[in-house]
Amino acid sequence: MKNIVILTGAGISAESGIATFRGPGGLWEGHRVEDVCTPGALARDPALVHRFYDLRRAALETVAPNAAHAALARLDREWAGGLLIVTQNVDDLHERAGARRMLHMHGALRSALCAACGERREWRDALPPGSACAGCGARALRPDIVFFGEIPYQMERIEAALAEADLFVSIGTSGAVYPAAGFVRMAQAYGAATLELNLERSEGSAWFDATRLGAAGVLVPAWVDEVLG
Ligand code: OAD
Repeated sequence: MKNIVILTGAGISAESGIATFRGPGGLWEGHRVEDVCTPGALARDPALVHRFYDLRRAALETVAPNAAHAALARLDREWAGGLLIVTQNVDDLHERAGARRMLHMHGALRSALCAACGERREWRDALPPGSACAGCGARALRPDIVFFGEIPYQMERIEAALAEADLFVSIGTSGAVYPAAGFVRMAQAYGAATLELNLERSEGSAWFDATRLGAAGVLVPAWVDEVLG
């Protein structure tokens, strides 16, 4: 085995105290997706959408990476083969734990995107609608989040990594949102073995060669120990 692709979802950050999306207490229980996570919502009520992400960005100040993030960062440091960690999460806990070979396919809370020129820059504070882009000057900065109906970032790089993968591992994701939910089948079609680590069976469980059920903070360090031998 040489090349590993890992997909992570909200479940890997749950033990850090960040709410997942689906299920009891999930973010989508208190908010309608259409109100805060679509291009239409941003056009209709930018104040509401910006505030929703301001609150979530501010909440990052009070959380820290957990044992699962730390284990993946260790894998990144010590695995001599190919590795790509693709996260659907918009928190920055993978990089704070030290992971480098990773990308955010659904955007990042600590980033602002200029809707006019496409430039993005690090953003830590509140982002009021109408904030000016330091690059082009347009008052068009928005949260750098991939809304429903928008195309996730870096799909070409992800698909290239899946095509080369010997092992695809999915961690803490419900398998409800495409295209990420389809990565397991894509990896399989290219010949990769597939493993799922999740608290409970997911919508995609049937597709994996093996599923291990439990908390990411326990399962991920154990799996990384196995891989690094
Ligand atoms: P979900 O909330 O849909 O699913 C989280 C999964 O993590 C569930 O299957 C839980 O059982 C599992 N889980 C919870 N706690 C866990 C723990 N401690 N250890 C392991 N697993 C645990 O979140 P995602 O699948 O990430 O998109 O959601 C996918 C996308 O839908 C998100 O990126 C977001 C959302 O709408 C955007 O905002 C664009």
